[in-house]
Amino acid sequence: MTDDRERDATTPSLQLPQSATLPYQPFGGAAVLMTARDPEVLLSGPAGTGKSLACLTKLYLAAMKYPGMRGLIARKTRESVSESALVTWEQKVIPPGHPLTAGAKRRARQVYTFPNGSEVAVGGLDSAQKVMSTEFDMVYVQEAIELTEDDWEALTTRLRNARMPYQQLLADTNPSHPRHWLKRRCDDGRTRLIESRHEDNPSIVNPRTGRATPQGEAYLAKLDSLTGARKPRLRHGRWAQAEGVVYDGWDATVHLVNARPIPHHWTRYWAIDFGFTNPFVWQFWAEDEDGILHLYREIYRTGRLVEDLAREGLAMCDGEPGPRAVVCDHDAEDRATLERHTGVLTEAADKGVRAGIQEVAGRLAIRGNGRPRLYVNRDARGHPADPVLVAAARPTCTADEFDGYVWDPGRASREAPLKKDDHGMDALRYLCRKLSDDSIGRSAGYAGDPDADPFADLPPRVFR
Ligand SMILES: Nc1ncnc2c1ncn2[C@@H]1O[C@H](COP(=O)(O)OP(=O)(O)OP(=O)(O)O)[C@@H](O)[C@H]1O
Ligand SMILES: [Mg+2]
Repeated sequence: MTDDRERDATTPSLQLPQSATLPYQPFGGAAVLMTARDPEVLLSGPAGTGKSLACLTKLYLAAMKYPGMRGLIARKTRESVSESALVTWEQKVIPPGHPLTAGAKRRARQVYTFPNGSEVAVGGLDSAQKVMSTEFDMVYVQEAIELTEDDWEALTTRLRNARMPYQQLLADTNPSHPRHWLKRRCDDGRTRLIESRHEDNPSIVNPRTGRATPQGEAYLAKLDSLTGARKPRLRHGRWAQAEGVVYDGWDATVHLVNARPIPHHWTRYWAIDFGFTNPFVWQFWAEDEDGILHLYREIYRTGRLVEDLAREGLAMCDGEPGPRAVVCDHDAEDRATLERHTGVLTEAADKGVRAGIQEVAGRLAIRGNGRPRLYVNRDARGHPADPVLVAAARPTCTADEFDGYVWDPGRASREAPLKKDDHGMDALRYLCRKLSDDSIGRSAGYAGDPDADPFADLPPRVFR
């Protein structure tokens, strides 16, 4: 691993403005990044070290310095770029009132055109044709572990616009497991890895005293309380193996997929874990003809009333068939409120933890045909990440929970999972338990005989 903390004196740096246009000073890994000219550079580190701000600032400075250059801000999906990178880009990198941000709204934005003719385009690897038919000088990929190596290599072939003296694929990421292709690529020397640390972020560690700021102390304490593989990765920036996780069969490269259109006739299910201080999780599942479950949407929010969430969820279901079943946490009042505001009946989940875990693990297992029986859509969350959860470095969607969902170390081996950041995990378990062979008969009130299925003759309700 290259841990290059030294300022590289041999390559001329991108000149940071002396004026107050960009009140940004890079430290540590971010400063190294500014001067790096390697064709592939990865800024890797724990949560909140200033990686994205550094990469976007470099892209901005390059666009200003080299008239006519073409840059790209990319992530695995176009949706996720708008939600994350473009927020930092527009709020923290582009100076306030700059004409670059005039015109199209963030979500619809295709390109930022600079007064000097430089252009910075925006793209997702989920709709790559446009990206792949253009040539660039510098491409910034946010959260690069989400990409496949094919995505990455395809981007490298687009770097030939030649308006800058060097072309660069610039990326940032939180670490994943040590066998990840991106880590291997760095170990092989094909990509230069620059470590980013909390000390590089002056809002976390005061650069003059070297001590954590009050805000930094609070943030680091939150990272200290993370569980599973999330802690070494997000607190310490290590490419760490997940140990003691409940679902060791979860593999984001297999189970996490880009959204696809869901045919109207697929059966829908809702799985709900109520919460107010903790997140309220409402998962929208579709079951395909082969019985495979797809989490195509979810609400994952704190601090909202059930009736407001019900309205929000219903609005998202416009034109969709209603759910065949709604499995819920047991809170009677919340269930009644949800029923009143959605007009859909709910049922109390079978909360048997071990049996439920077995069902989920069984669905995650890869079968002989190479496929599991459960997929989670990337960007399934139907709204921006909950800012309270972001600030607390807690999971912001069900997919985030898998790597931190661990067996409780205070109990006998694999007796029970730790009850922490497990709200999507609970809802998931409720549904898989509900759909298991031995559970359907009991919870739906018929003896597992498909002809006696009480739902069979009901025309599916369509939300309008
Ligand atoms: N050099 C700096 N000067 C001033 N503020 C900074 C600096 N670096 C980081 N910050 C602050 O820290 C915040 C977090 O930075 P950023 O989003 O770039 O972190 P990150 O490492 O990409 O986080 P994540 O791991 O969650 O993606 C920034 O929005 C900014 O407010
Ligand atoms: Mg970031």
